[in-house]
Order: sequence, then structure tokens, then C-alpha cells
Amino acid sequence: MPTVWRLSRSALATAAVAAAAAVFHSPAPANPPTKPSLAGLTEPADYLLPNESLMIPFKDQVPMVFVTRNQPEWAALKTFFTDAKEDTVDPATGEKVTRRVVKIKVPLGLNQAPPVPAENPMALAKWVLGRKLYYDPILSTSGQVSCSTCHHPKKGFTDQKRTSTGIGGAVGPINSPTVINAAYAKFQFWNGRADTLEDQSQGPVGNNKEMFGGKADPWEEAVLRLRTNPEYVKAFAQVFGHAPTRDSAAKAIATYERTVLSGNSVQDRADAAMKKRVTEEESGKFELKAEDYAGVLKAAFAAKDATALTALKLDPGADAGKAGDVAKQLLNGRTLFFGKAKCSLCHTGDTFSDGLFHNLGVGADKGGDIPYDEFGRFSILRTGHKDINLVGANKTPGLRGLVDTAPYMHSGDEKTLEAVVDLYDRGGNVNPYLSDKLRDTVAEAAYLRARAAGQPVDPNVKTFGPSHKPIIPLKLNLSAAEKADLVVFLRGLNGAPIDPVVSEPTIEVK
Ligand code: HEC
Ligand code: HEC
Repeated sequence: MPTVWRLSRSALATAAVAAAAAVFHSPAPANPPTKPSLAGLTEPADYLLPNESLMIPFKDQVPMVFVTRNQPEWAALKTFFTDAKEDTVDPATGEKVTRRVVKIKVPLGLNQAPPVPAENPMALAKWVLGRKLYYDPILSTSGQVSCSTCHHPKKGFTDQKRTSTGIGGAVGPINSPTVINAAYAKFQFWNGRADTLEDQSQGPVGNNKEMFGGKADPWEEAVLRLRTNPEYVKAFAQVFGHAPTRDSAAKAIATYERTVLSGNSVQDRADAAMKKRVTEEESGKFELKAEDYAGVLKAAFAAKDATALTALKLDPGADAGKAGDVAKQLLNGRTLFFGKAKCSLCHTGDTFSDGLFHNLGVGADKGGDIPYDEFGRFSILRTGHKDINLVGANKTPGLRGLVDTAPYMHSGDEKTLEAVVDLYDRGGNVNPYLSDKLRDTVAEAAYLRARAAGQPVDPNVKTFGPSHKPIIPLKLNLSAAEKADLVVFLRGLNGAPIDPVVSEPTIEVK
């Protein structure tokens, strides 16, 4: 049966569901702001212009500045947030002012500052407001669901569920990704339908499986709740110069999320140790050795660094003797990741994501059919821009928090890292749109030549469409030991704990 036909049949069955989901996830804000329709709302909910006299005076505003490792002052910063001073000019009066700034120490391994949109600069009071909103169920109709319900600091900023549970126990269709290092992603959501954290954070409030159970406009209802809460009225006035709005709530939440950063993994430390060693040796050979990992592990045992060690399944009290073996596994796993196992074809850069979309066959059924609601990236491309290569493709996730974020993949189908590695070892799940990075194109070409010549072909090869196109997944042929080493390497990418000012909303920050 040709796949094309099967696709359209599933399309009919699920089109309504998918369309509803799309509407709820990214409702476009009205422009100009609509007159509120909800009783009790006197001003538009979407956005308002500031009244500067309500705001914190310029000299008392505290900008936040990311400092990365390639800046000289980085090493001197003792804490994640460090107070400093800046000399500047008040743009309204032209007066010189010296004011407080907060320097944010970007963790080791993240070599760039997260991008910040010009219209939403980082500032401390806005960050404090955003952190409050992130953990406050006030944004949900039931008063029970907050962002942290599904992206909890104690669960690697996920919910550790196959797919997430939101308002009234509603089970959503998709796995909750981590917010850790989301600030670096070019696209948000598995299918990338939001460009920025500001766009993304408006989605859940209106989603009837996440935070919305009301009858009117979700954001009008949420904004009304904020406007009837004196603490929020005061905080929004100080930060934005007006009553709470959808625009300003999104900005505050995004400001907070930009600080949910994790680095300083065993891998990052080994990289740094290697660079130091090679520089001292003056050998110019910037290549990791097992001794670099061993040194890092030894230091972790000495410092009783439970997070780093337990990520590698090492007991901080008892396993110091295993450091040498694990160091070899880390090095071998790394070599596989960047070599034979081809992981770095897609998992690249500081966060181990190319920010692009690929079809691994996650979500395809056994016959290779991709149901309409699994179209992934393709489904949200604008009409006129649909790219057939992106059917069933999802965003490459970063790999820096895997120990705490099982189960894996957009479907939550893979329960363990071992299962993930097995999926890649067999070349993904076969389907008509499997990424060519996971395909054995040489074998496919040989198959086509043989078939054209009327020679016998492997009956186990799956073919698709009216032309019976063969799709042959590229087997990695990893041995059991290689698979184990690759998993150790992935575990070694786990970051140091997120700083408590970020992960514990009860810590007061002023
Ligand atoms: C009921 C669970 C739930 C709630 C509540 C929730 N989220 Fe999510 N979040 C998800 C799921 C599921 C996804 C993935 C959806 C998709 O890709 O289609 C997601 C995606 C995201 C992403 C994109 C990450 C990435 O890598 O693409 C961010 C950032 C995020 N949520 C932040 C928030 C914020 C901020 C809030 C509160 C305003 C929030 N979430 C509320 C479940 C939830
Ligand atoms: C063709 C690009 C590509 C290659 C090659 C690739 N990945 Fe992925 N990876 C992805 C995409 C895309 C996803 C998400 C797929 C989905 O959910 O549909 C993913 C998901 C993952 C996840 C799950 C993360 C999470 O938070 O759910 C892990 C772990 C992972 N990959 C590790 C690896 C390893 C190890 C290798 C090498 C053996 C590898 N990847 C090779 C693109 C790739």
C-alpha cells in the first residue's frame, strides 16, 4: 500500500486535534490591543505603554550582565550573581550616575552569553518578577499549575514524565523538554514554532492541557488575576511602568529563563584541564587524553563533588579507585561521539545542538507510517514553505542535563540512555522521511542498481511510495562496550547544579 495514501488517511483522522493544538499553543497577540471583553478588565490585556513616574528611577535600576569565560573578569567572579558598579548616563536627564549592576557568571563550557532581545534587556527587578511568575500557579485557571509543574528544578527542569500532565490532570501529547540552556536555542518547542523565550512563554497559559481551563480569553483571564493581586500590580508598575500585561509577563518570565544555565560538567572540566596541560607542554596538540579525565575525577573525589560523581554512577565515598577506568570510558565515549557513532553530525556546539530539525523516525509506526500529528517541523512551516524533508523532524535537543531528564525524545518513548543509543545503533526507526544522516546511502544506491538490473534484492529492505524508494538505516555496529562508553560520555555532559538563586525561588534576591 503506498505510504502517500496512508498518510492522508491518518491526516483526516487527526487533523482536527492537531489544528486545535496549534491554535492553543501560539495565539497571536492582537495588534492594536483589543478592548478587553472580560468584565473587570479596564485596560487592554496585551500591552500598555509605560508611565515612567511609576518605574524604579534609572539610577536605582540594576542591569544584569552576562560574563563569559573569555572575559578576564570571569575567573574573579566568586558567585553566580555578583554585585558590581557601573558609570553611566541617565538618558532622560543627561546626568552621570554610578549604579549597581549584577554580573552573571556564565558556567564553564558555555562560551557565549545567551542572546537577549534588544527590547527586553536583563534587569534584576524584572528577573525577580519573572522568577516569581515562573513558580506561581496564578497563571493557571485552576490556581494549581505553574511553569515549574512541568519544568521543575529538582527534575532537571522537566517533569520526568513520558508526556506532561497539566490542568485538571490533562495528559498532553508530548514530552516536556528542559528549560536548562533553552536560552541558547534558535527555536523553542520540539517543532520550533516559537522563535524566542518571550514567544514561547505565552503558549502554556492558553493551552487547555497545560494551564487554561477557563471560558474567556486565557490571557485576559490571567492578566485580570495579576491585576487583582496588589504585589504583582506593584512589581509590574516598578519594572514596566504599567499594570500587568501579557507582553510584560512574557518578558519577565523570559528574563528569568535566560539564567537557567548549566555547564561545568566533567567534560568541560576535562577540556579546560587539557587546554592548560597543552599550553604548559607547549606541544600545540589540543587533544584530550584519559589522564585529563582522570585528573578531573580525582579532583571531584577530593572535593566530594557528589553531583559530578553520581552522574557517572560513582560513589563519592567508595569509588575513587575506579577513576582510572571511568576516565578511559569517558575518552572512548567521546571519541565515538565525534567519530564512529556520528552524534556530532547534529549534536554540536556548546549545548550539543545544531538547533536544526531531523527525522529519526521517533513517532513513526512499525510500518514506517507517520501519523499527521507526528509531522513535527513540517506541520508548523508556513504554507508556501512546506519542506517535505522535514516531515516527522524535530529539534535536536541539547545534551547537558540528561541524567535528570528521562524519559527521552519528543515522545518520551526512550526510557534510558542505553535505549537511545540502541535507537541510533540501528540507524533510527525506518520511515520515508528518515534523515539522510542516519541512512546508508551507499547501500540504497546498490539496491537501486540491482533492482534496475533485475537482480535479486534484499526482501527485508523497506520501500516507500509509488516508486518503492528503499530506505536503509545506517547501522553503527557499536559493540556492547562501545555502547556503554558512549552512555558514560553522555552522563559526563551533565552540568554542575544550577545555582540556588535560580533553582530555589524562596531565596530572597534584592
Ligand atoms: C502542563 C505542563 C507544562 C506547563 C504547565 C508548562 N510547560 Fe513548557 N513545555 C511543556 C511541553 C510538553 C513542552 C513541549 C511542547 C512542544 O514542543 O510542543 C514545553 C516546552 C517549553 C519550552 C521549550 C523548550 C525547548 O527546548 O524547546 C520552554 C522554554 C518552556 N516550555 C517553558 C515554559 C514556561 C515558561 C511555562 C510557564 C509559563 C511553561 N513552560 C509551562 C510542558 C509544560
Ligand atoms: C541526524 C541528527 C542526529 C544525530 C546524528 C544524532 N542525534 Fe540525537 N537527537 C536528534 C534529534 C532531532 C533528537 C530529537 C528527536 C525526536 O524527539 O524526535 C535527538 C535526541 C537525542 C537524545 C534525547 C534527548 C532528550 O532530551 O530527549 C539523546 C540522548 C541523543 N539524541 C543522543 C545522541 C547520540 C548519543 C547520538 C550518536 C549516537 C545522536 N544523538 C545522534 C538528532 C540527532
